[in-house]
Amino acid sequence: PDEDGHELWLRYRKAGPDRLAEYRRALTHVVAPREDAAVTELLQGLSAITGRTVPHHTRPRRDGAVIIGTPDTSPDVAGFVDNSLGPEGYVIRTVDNAVVIASQGRRGVLYGAFHLLRLLQTQRHVTRLDIRERPANPLRLVNHWDNLDGSVERGYAGDTIFDWDALPTTGPRDLAYARTLASVGINGTVVNNVNANPAFLSTEMLTGFVGLAAVLREWGVTLYLSANFACPMVLGGLPTADPFDAGVQQWWRDKAREIYDMIPDFGGFLVKADSEGQPGPLTYGRTHADGANLLAAAVRPYGGIVMWRAFIHDFDPVTWASKSYKTFQPLDGQFAANVVVQIKNGPIDFQVREPVHPLFGAMPRTRTMAELQITQEYTGQSTHLCYLVPQWKEVYDFDTHAAGPGTTVARIVDGAAGVMNFGSDRNWTRHPLAAANTHGYGRLVWNPALKAAELAEEWVRMTFGGDARVVSTLTGMLLGSWETYEDYTSPLGVGFMIAGDHFTPNPAGNAPWNRADREGTGFDRTVATGVGYTGHYHLPVFQRYESLADCPDVLLLFLHHVPYSHRLHSGKTVIQHIYDTHWDGRDDAHRLRELWRSLKSRVDRSRYATTLERFDQQAIQATLWRDSIVSYYFEAGRVLDSSRSWTQV
Ligand code: GCU
Repeated sequence: PDEDGHELWLRYRKAGPDRLAEYRRALTHVVAPREDAAVTELLQGLSAITGRTVPHHTRPRRDGAVIIGTPDTSPDVAGFVDNSLGPEGYVIRTVDNAVVIASQGRRGVLYGAFHLLRLLQTQRHVTRLDIRERPANPLRLVNHWDNLDGSVERGYAGDTIFDWDALPTTGPRDLAYARTLASVGINGTVVNNVNANPAFLSTEMLTGFVGLAAVLREWGVTLYLSANFACPMVLGGLPTADPFDAGVQQWWRDKAREIYDMIPDFGGFLVKADSEGQPGPLTYGRTHADGANLLAAAVRPYGGIVMWRAFIHDFDPVTWASKSYKTFQPLDGQFAANVVVQIKNGPIDFQVREPVHPLFGAMPRTRTMAELQITQEYTGQSTHLCYLVPQWKEVYDFDTHAAGPGTTVARIVDGAAGVMNFGSDRNWTRHPLAAANTHGYGRLVWNPALKAAELAEEWVRMTFGGDARVVSTLTGMLLGSWETYEDYTSPLGVGFMIAGDHFTPNPAGNAPWNRADREGTGFDRTVATGVGYTGHYHLPVFQRYESLADCPDVLLLFLHHVPYSHRLHSGKTVIQHIYDTHWDGRDDAHRLRELWRSLKSRVDRSRYATTLERFDQQAIQATLWRDSIVSYYFEAGRVLDSSRSWTQV
């Protein structure tokens, strides 16, 4: 059958013979006071999975009831919920031949419903359930970089998934979109690009967003918008956007009132200011805190927040890594309580490997969130397989030592924003396996302690079913793919080996980044002899990064300039490591294609073919990358590759 549609991981297929009888016995009807999103989802999912119509009743009828609700709506669940659960947490418990899904809030019930369905989709037993979940963070957002003309900045799956022109009328795709986010616990979406067209806040557009917000609301997703700092000038005709100007303040207050009159649960604004040509407070001699607080004051009466981005693009490779740290760290303590500073995972720009951003842990009096990139701008776009959950886990697990050992990023942040990879393509992500990143992002932000291997396997089972060969092969492919991509592209954290398309190799064009010369390569960012970047980290991290002996191999060329003969902890010289990883990485990319081919008879024809075409492209690109990087370094250092003889090459 043709399976290449937008179901993504929400495929409800009839259970296999080993589970069908159990599921049919345990789950016969859904009990809730009224039909809402959670009930609809359960009816649809349970009916499809058990192959029987599972009805909705307001009271339990017989064995196999799935009783769902909040204490407010359903007396049946009152005894199961306690205060520590919160509005988004839930319990799922087997009680007397029934399953209870209970939460203090509507969102929690919805997440519990998706959890139960996930258990079925991943072929788990459901006869003795005792599950308790609550999210690690309140802010679990996605950021679309979608433009008014329908294009998507750094979008690799077609145009925007939203139909701006049709709004406020919404369609099946909007509904499917909201469900998909809810299924992995995402509770907020910023639908327009951070390079924000002011028109997104026009009355006309806002009128349209009322419709979208209504669909999102049903699924527990809050609507946010990116705001252009110059809106008071462009939309309001004011002569200035100065945050200290009374007229400007009034304009934002009026705009906030207008928005909340239409969308009472509007989440707030995301702002990119004074970066890459975007307007901002610096024009008026004000700070980023002044700018953020201006918008924050306007939305505060309604419970809204402002997510203010810390990313500041800098065309100078010498200063770029430190730019956002130096700009924002001194402002700690000056941001209003409803401002959250949104920090990219690394100090540069979503490279395949970067150190964790030094701002995490450097602003103890400021709310912060992590910005991760689901869309694979620098990691193969929609062509290469690059499962990013292992990368994101390294970010969450990174110990900043800000308040002593154990001050991990996971403990510091209030949540995350994932730059989205959905587009108008029929399957939403173009590369069918790229949806694993979207799924993994949501699930990891819900609980950063989840393991990459668990999440990868869960996605594979939900997306392709329980065939053991498919599960083990695909899970393994996903888990190794980041390292493979890193191997044949950018070695040892050097970064920016990539051309302006952020896809093809161009090491020579990026000499100021990789600094490859006759003797060695790498960017000296130490305090002792370099640009001083390592000094932004707290003590034990600073020492580790500053010292050539202790610096982790994977970040060596980001932090140090070393001779080609420098020995890594692995025992290899830097140059031999570069040669070997590029040859091996390219071979691994070709192996990915062979592994996919080995699943031909086990995957539906359509997804098989679409994905194979991706792997064909990746294989070609990986060879190109290998040859570009290897020859670049050979030209630079003239060191022979000791692992390969010329005849082999
Ligand atoms: C990167 C990306 C841009 C984006 C910017 C940002 O530089 O290439 O497209 O606008 O980051 O995050 O603001």
